[in-house]
Amino acid sequence: MKTVQDVLNALDKITGGRVIKSLNDITRGDHPFVIQKSSNLPGKEIIETPGLVYGNMNNKVKKIAVTMTMTEGSIELAGVTGVDAIIAHHPIAEAANSGGVKLKDYLDLYNISVFELHEAFHGLHPGISYLHGHEVYRKDISYGGVHGNILFVGKTLPEVNTLGDILTRLDTFMGLQEEDELLFMEKEIRNNTSVIETSVVTRGRIVCGEENSSVNNIAHIFPHTGFTTDHLRQVIKEHPEVDTVLASISRVYDGHTLIETAKELGLNFVVGNCHVLEILENGLPLAYALDMLLPDVEVVVFRERVTSLPVRTMGTPQMKQYAEQMATKYLVHKEVSKLS
Ligand SMILES: [Fe+2]
Ligand SMILES: [Fe+2]
Repeated sequence: MKTVQDVLNALDKITGGRVIKSLNDITRGDHPFVIQKSSNLPGKEIIETPGLVYGNMNNKVKKIAVTMTMTEGSIELAGVTGVDAIIAHHPIAEAANSGGVKLKDYLDLYNISVFELHEAFHGLHPGISYLHGHEVYRKDISYGGVHGNILFVGKTLPEVNTLGDILTRLDTFMGLQEEDELLFMEKEIRNNTSVIETSVVTRGRIVCGEENSSVNNIAHIFPHTGFTTDHLRQVIKEHPEVDTVLASISRVYDGHTLIETAKELGLNFVVGNCHVLEILENGLPLAYALDMLLPDVEVVVFRERVTSLPVRTMGTPQMKQYAEQMATKYLVHKEVSKLS
């Protein structure tokens, strides 16, 4: 029977020794993957601690769930399906990732151990560029000295010649046709044509250039990691062969300075996969690796699917009435209590 310790060992093997081994690794201040994330909002900062976040090393593990972001939904699903350990890609914070309550109280209730593996997992495999149709010949994980600001410069794969080829490739790999069909069925079943689903609405698109514009060398950026127009100008100085900027995980919208700068520099600009597809890009390879390293442990993947609905179209007729009554009687018309 495998234990939490065995899962930790597997993660350490996958990352080539990047997980923390003791409290000392967190407090010493020099572990390269123990990283503070802070926007300087009081009480909201977090320290990434790759490896075991909560749980006892000797606990038995028969079933593991890999997820992107742990939520109360993940904890409930784990509890009811007998998952002993959740491995989240995105870092875990008290209450934020445990339904507003302490991790300890919620996880002890269902006897679940929790691991996180974020920056320590990034860059371990070349899958993100492969899926987007290029092979990286320059990789920087702190471009311009900004930690986590990832830059890939890559040459297109032989089968990728145009911007359209990139988008077709992504649609095929990501199964967006299936997501389209699923959304279509959902609209039918819910009798609601206004449902919007993330992976469908954020599918890749060409911002500058045409479907048949040729593409050879790509600067692949991740705008949410702090990539600026100055960085883009610098990349083009260092790599004048680049003809296309590709933004994935996050993207920029019309009018953004990165698009304007790409236009000025005569570059194509393409938006690739959205963050919601990282469960396929990074989650699935991680889950496969665990499945290979821990053959007697069952591995499942928790996949989120987020939809948007206009407020008054959601729920059964009874729930619409319920929400209306609660809001009217107790939330909107109540006396404004004075703060003393
Ligand atoms: Fe990631
Ligand atoms: Fe992510």
